[in-house]
Amino acid sequence: MKVLVTGGAGFIGANFVRLTLATRPDAEITVLDNLTYAGNQASLPPEVAFVKGDVADGDVVDALVGASDLVVHFAAESHNDNSLDDPSPFVHTNLIGTFTLLEAARRHKTRYHHISTDEVYGDLPLEGDAKFTPETPYNPSSPYSSTKAGSDLMVRAWVRSFGVAATISNCSNNYGPYQHVEKFIPRQITNVLDGVRPKLYGAGLNVRDWIHVDDHNSGVWAIIDRGRIGETYLIGADGEVNNLTVVRTLLELMGQEPDAFDHVNDRPGHDLRYAIDASRLRSELGWEPQYGDFRSGLAATIDWYRENEAWWRPAKLATELKYERLGR
Ligand code: NAD
Ligand code: DAU
Repeated sequence: MKVLVTGGAGFIGANFVRLTLATRPDAEITVLDNLTYAGNQASLPPEVAFVKGDVADGDVVDALVGASDLVVHFAAESHNDNSLDDPSPFVHTNLIGTFTLLEAARRHKTRYHHISTDEVYGDLPLEGDAKFTPETPYNPSSPYSSTKAGSDLMVRAWVRSFGVAATISNCSNNYGPYQHVEKFIPRQITNVLDGVRPKLYGAGLNVRDWIHVDDHNSGVWAIIDRGRIGETYLIGADGEVNNLTVVRTLLELMGQEPDAFDHVNDRPGHDLRYAIDASRLRSELGWEPQYGDFRSGLAATIDWYRENEAWWRPAKLATELKYERLGR
């Protein structure tokens, strides 16, 4: 099977390529990625076929989609803080890029899987145990999540109007190796390794539903293999933790005092809580997460950043300069 992986030099895409190489000998992978600040070819094994190009470039996309049996679309501008600073690349990549891929999938009748986020549903109250389900109305908060919501809605329309053979997955917050140092967990791990105190937005009571990146990607393969065309599947592993607890756990695992962090300015419009009901994925497709214990997953992630400074160091200074400018 010829598989085109867009955004394969990013965090989740690179882990998807690695998992696929290890578990799917029938898959012949090509990565399409234009290596933005978030892309890093060093995240990929050198033998993987790689095309440097933009998912919004119709000619490049047409040729690659036409030569593929399956497209798995990870490429995106993915960071909320950046979208609050400058939304324009989010519109280009997340909306125009998805449109370009959908049109090519329509022309060539190529199977398409769309990677999306739980943030399209907005947020949940801190109190109570409500969760997002596939029926939760779309209500995105940030420019990032609004462009992801728009791209999901295009996929649904292209299925219904043009018969594109597509599925969608909406996943919660991922953690694991190869995640850019702008994101919460790698930012704090690399801060501590640099002797800098972790930075917590506001009071730190916001809740995220953490899942290991390999569990996300095994869910994606379950949907590609056994999912119903036109369907949306939520991916989550019941990993709700508030940010304060994450920082305290990281500090403890790294041998620091639990209160050795700073509160910084909150993110504007900061979503309070995400929580996923993944029962459709579990009951219909028989998927189960393999990484049950968040604390040991965090410990392994800390070890990975400790051992792979050459991978993250080049991005660290520019990332912290950006946060300094944003006051966070
Ligand atoms: P990332 O920012 O680490 O990687 C994005 C990749 O896309 C990079 O390699 C970048 O170079 C590439 N890219 C960006 N614009 C491009 C363009 N115009 N053309 C070609 N390539 C381009 O992102 P990530 O965290 O790996 O997220 C991947 C996908 O998963 C995104 O669609 C995101 O919305 C979704 N998602 C992420 C999470 C999470 O916790 N990180 C959770 C749920 C869903
Ligand atoms: O829910 C899925 C989403 O998860 C994905 O769609 C996004 O691509 C991904 O970036 C992530 O979005 P978040 O905004 O939740 O992730 P981030 O790592 O930026 O922040 C996680 C939480 O930590 C959030 O409540 C903000 C907070 N935070 C973040 C940073 C960078 C801090 O308290 N301090 C920080 O320095």
